[in-house]
This record gives sequence, C-alpha cells and structure tokens, in this order.
Amino acid sequence: MRSPSKPFVPNVVEGRGSTSLGTDGGGGQQPRHVAIIMDGNGRWAAKRGLPRVAGHRAGAEAVRATVRAAAERGVEVLTLYAFSSENWRRSSEEVSDLTALMRFYLDREIATLERDGVRLEFIGEPAAFGSDLATRMSDAVECTRNNRKITLVIALNYGSRAEIAAAARRLAERALVGELSLDAIDELAIDRQLQTSSWPDLDLLIRTSGEVRLSNFLLWQAAYAELIFLDTLWPDFDAAALDAALGQYAARQRRFGGRS
Ligand code: FPP
Repeated sequence: MRSPSKPFVPNVVEGRGSTSLGTDGGGGQQPRHVAIIMDGNGRWAAKRGLPRVAGHRAGAEAVRATVRAAAERGVEVLTLYAFSSENWRRSSEEVSDLTALMRFYLDREIATLERDGVRLEFIGEPAAFGSDLATRMSDAVECTRNNRKITLVIALNYGSRAEIAAAARRLAERALVGELSLDAIDELAIDRQLQTSSWPDLDLLIRTSGEVRLSNFLLWQAAYAELIFLDTLWPDFDAAALDAALGQYAARQRRFGGRS
C-alpha cells in the first residue's frame, strides 16, 4: 500500500511536467499511465435481470482481462477506480458484496499477478475495509513488489479532494514547524505529496457506461490527461475496447497548453 508520506521518487523526468508524447511529437503515442472509471456493473446486471452483485462479479472478470491486455500493450501503470469514498452511501449489502469480491479477487488472483509480472498497489484509504482485507492487501503488495511488467493500482475508498486536502495539510504542517518556506509550496510540492507521486503522469482516463464526469477521481492527476468516455458497460470492456481507446488516444494531439 502506498504510504501518504512516501518520499517522491521521480521515475519519469525531472518534475511532473513529463509527457508521453511519441517521437513525432503528437499522434501515434502510447500512454504510459492509463486510469479507468469502471462504471456500469449495475446496469449490466439489470439488463440481464440479475442482482447487482452479478454485475460486480462480471466486472471483476473484466478487470482480469484488462490488466492482461494493458500489460501486453506496454501500459506501465493501470489505475482502476474500484470503490470511491462516496460509495459507502450504497446499501450495506452491496458494500459487503464488493468487500467480499475484493477479498476473493486478491486470494484468487495473486498467483496470476505473480506469474504475469503485475505489481499491485492501492491508493485511497483501504484500511476502512477492516483488518482482514487490509492484511490481504498489504500481503499482496509485498508479494508482488518486485514485478516489473505493469503496475496495477486499485483505488479503494479513494476520493481525489481528500487526497489533495491531505497533501495540503502535510505541507502546511511542515511550513508551520519551519521545515518548508511558503515559496516552496508549489505544484511540484503538492504533486509529491499525492499517493500517485511515484508513477508517471496520467496520460489517458477512460470512463465506461456513458456517464461523462470524473466523480472525484484523480482530479489533479487528470489535468492534462486525454479523456475518453465510452458507452460500453464495464463488464463488457475487453482487450478490443482497450485497443479502440488506445487508438483514439494515439490519434489525439497532446499540447499541454502549448500549440503544436
Ligand atoms: C460502478 O458500477 C462499479 C463499482 C462501484 C465497483 C467496481 C468494482 C468492480 C469492477 C469489481 C471488483 C474490482 C476489482 C479491482 C477486483 P455501478 O455499480 O455504479 O454500475 P451502475 O452505474 O450501472 O449502477
């Protein structure tokens, strides 16, 4: 699990103004970091007259397929929004179904993640799911920490505004005790305090199910990301859908506020 106080280890280039532009400076590029808001499990189940949990189970299968496809296509980091800090508003039955599913996924998938070179990480505040799941999560993180093919980041009990507020609080604490001057509180300083600080900048954010909003996911990190909204319901997302999204991304001109 990422510790919020983990020091920043730049793994792209100096600072966070890094880009994943292809060699032609626009178009044809490949994203290093892709994030997905996996939406539509409930509607997928409803369309089939099934309970919501069936949609989440099918969603977990789509996670499996997507992780494998993303790794094969050279994506370095895949961040998936599995449970937002607002999802506690769902029925206790659905929350416990999702918790059980996550436990099942961790137990069942760990060997596959190992075999496929997947490093697992979590962001958010997953401790809220209780010590049983928290232990499984830290075991899985520990067990996969040397894997290098792809990093799978699961956002659990994650909320972007809370993440940014926590970063601001930590910087303010350091300023109060004189460790940091006010001038040093700049974009990079905030970025270094985020839970995503050691991964490449977010290049591509995908949301499934036809909803067109960010729902408090990676708000800071998405500042220059390309956004793709798909009508596909998450359980129907597969390697072909990922390829289509990567194709759209490759055709975009990324300018980061400049002109091409
Ligand atoms: C949104 O669909 C989906 C979720 C809140 C849960 C996502 C969880 C999974 C895909 C399964 C487990 C994840 C992992 C990483 C193993 P929704 O329920 O809001 O769908 P709806 O909008 O159609 O009701």
